[in-house]
Amino acid sequence: MKGLILSGGAGTRLRPITHTSAKQLVPIANKPILFYGIEDMVAAGIDEIGIVVGDTAEEIVAAVGDGSKFGARVTYIPQDAPLGLAHCVRIARDFLGDDDFVMYLGDNMLQQGLAEFVDEFESARARDGADAPAAQILLAHVDDPTQFGVAAVNEVGEVLYLVEKPADPPSDLALVGVYLFDAEIHTAVASIEPSARGELEITDAIQWLLEHGHRVRHEVLRGWWIDTGKKDPLLDCNRLVLETLQGRNDGKVDEASTIEGSVVIEAGGEIIGSRVRGPAIIGERTRVVNSYIGPFTSVAADCEVVDSEVEHSVVLSGSRILGIDRLTDSLVGRQVEVVRSDRRPHALRLMLGDHSKVELD
Ligand code: DAU
Repeated sequence: MKGLILSGGAGTRLRPITHTSAKQLVPIANKPILFYGIEDMVAAGIDEIGIVVGDTAEEIVAAVGDGSKFGARVTYIPQDAPLGLAHCVRIARDFLGDDDFVMYLGDNMLQQGLAEFVDEFESARARDGADAPAAQILLAHVDDPTQFGVAAVNEVGEVLYLVEKPADPPSDLALVGVYLFDAEIHTAVASIEPSARGELEITDAIQWLLEHGHRVRHEVLRGWWIDTGKKDPLLDCNRLVLETLQGRNDGKVDEASTIEGSVVIEAGGEIIGSRVRGPAIIGERTRVVNSYIGPFTSVAADCEVVDSEVEHSVVLSGSRILGIDRLTDSLVGRQVEVVRSDRRPHALRLMLGDHSKVELD
């Protein structure tokens, strides 16, 4: 079995003015989202992994390398334009050969490991002979199915049909971004036409399998799942992962500081005259001075938090938060400065990247 991870598509909504950055590299508990997917594959015994890369290829390659640090062998598959998830399967044809494979959307995170999901597909294929499933999908109950691919399933648990982002959803069962396929999917992706949004949809390719007499197994997800492309799901996901971390201190905490609950302080991190309430993580070489860091906060490497209060937030590397009374429910990008200023006239002075959102009281 091989693995295919999709990290192409348009860059992140956290895109700064000057360059595109990969949303798949936004950290959750200070580890890029994409790494959780790779580690999950390796834990399920899949070490030959193709990664589809788009306009953020350079950044992804710099972060993942040849995969050896994960115990995997990574092959990069460049995609010129985000033409859809089924297009990714088309261009990965040579890499995949006729092997079964797991396809994983690089911006999805799930609590449930892959190993069981893969085992169940493999044993169904070994057991069911001519009736063996050609694909296996993972479904989750969601509040707003119109944002996802949606499955209609009958009372005996068979997948009847699938539809991508329907205005009138047939159920509340969304397709989670993890799929298992056999080589039949290559015929399917070669047979479909682009959707109304101009993409070759994997949902349509799976629908093609169903219409051509192939069985599609499904499972309903246990545990949480988050499509991390947006701010609030990202903060939720960060909270869920932080809840599972064991505290440790590889940095320095001075005598005037207090650490409560489970807090990770990475090497070179310094807590000076401050209070940190976990679960929280403070990255390498980050300094927290005369400040309060509240629960569910991840501050990445090389940041400075001085005379400030930060809670339920994710701060990316190299950022500085100085003299801010209370920063909460926030996502702060890389190399960002949030600074209180005494300059006159009193005014907000902003330099915000694309798709930024600022809420003021
Ligand atoms: O998150 C689950 C949903 O993911 C499913 O319910 C939908 O059926 C499925 O179509 C997909 O919908 P999204 O609109 O959320 O997909 P998105 O465009 O965000 O792409 C998902 C990942 O695939 C992301 O990491 C970028 C990558 N990608 C996307 C496209 C369109 C590529 O690598 N190449 C592409 O051409």
